[in-house]
Amino acid sequence: MSEPMNAENKGAIARFLAAPPDTVSKTLFVAIAVCLVASMIVSTAAVILRPTQEANKLRDKQINILQVAGLYDPAIDISDAFEAFEPRVLDLESGEFTDAFDPATFDDIAAADDPELSRALEDDPASIGRQSRFRTVYLLRDDAGALDKVILPLHGYGLWSTLYGFIAVEKNGNDIFGLQFYSHAETPGLGAEVDNPRWKSQWNGKRLRDEAGTLQITVAKTAPPAGADYHIDALAGATLTTAGVDNLVKFWMGEEGYARFLDKLQAGEF
Ligand SMILES: Cc1cc2nc3c(=O)[nH]c(=O)nc-3n(C[C@H](O)[C@H](O)[C@H](O)COP(=O)(O)O)c2cc1C
Repeated sequence: MSEPMNAENKGAIARFLAAPPDTVSKTLFVAIAVCLVASMIVSTAAVILRPTQEANKLRDKQINILQVAGLYDPAIDISDAFEAFEPRVLDLESGEFTDAFDPATFDDIAAADDPELSRALEDDPASIGRQSRFRTVYLLRDDAGALDKVILPLHGYGLWSTLYGFIAVEKNGNDIFGLQFYSHAETPGLGAEVDNPRWKSQWNGKRLRDEAGTLQITVAKTAPPAGADYHIDALAGATLTTAGVDNLVKFWMGEEGYARFLDKLQAGEF
């Protein structure tokens, strides 16, 4: 039974090979073979390169944290320099740290998609939809072990994209040391001027809240009534990205974000 079938198969293969190269069956065969080989190469490369990509992502995040804290030195090994930071997972609602997650592996961006760990935002000025109830923050201590700065992640929508970044706040919970974004897709020369060192340098020394504890930090063309201490100038020609940055900073520094943690910092609790 199998011999005649083999003979039949051999006959079909021989006919296929003998056919002229421009037949439909040969063209389809070559097209499908090329697609299969190409997809195998692409998926093998994706699998092989994934650990490298993850390592590069981590390195990039660490560089950004070092930069926003003013500690980045290209001559110093990133992992060694990053040892200066103590990552902790913060419960936003209580403003306290939690040991429920390992800060080295907890992914607070992914946690925003987990209904157990996040909440849907009704009032959503940063246009992020859902917010993780826990965020990984980075404590920077001085040589004597006293708290020096905290580095807090923040994100929100600009004009074309979600901007992801960090704000460095002094140990008093109110003075800003710096802010920078590590990922966004705003237009170069317009919204992407958030990366311009001259624009970023404005954040240093600005304040979040006034003496009465009201959040005053504002990113806009004109200073808020509270004064220049709370004012970051708008990005020229990029009113919508400016509004996005203003909204996301107010959101994360406000009641829905780090307010309770900042209260505790101001009270000298850490
Ligand atoms: C191709 C293109 C890209 C733009 N990219 C941005 C951007 O990244 N951020 C932004 O706020 N506005 C961007 N704009 C401009 C906005 O459409 C809008 O005109 C601008 O935000 C208004 O700012 P202004 O009031 O300062 O002129 C872009 C416009 C064009 C045509």
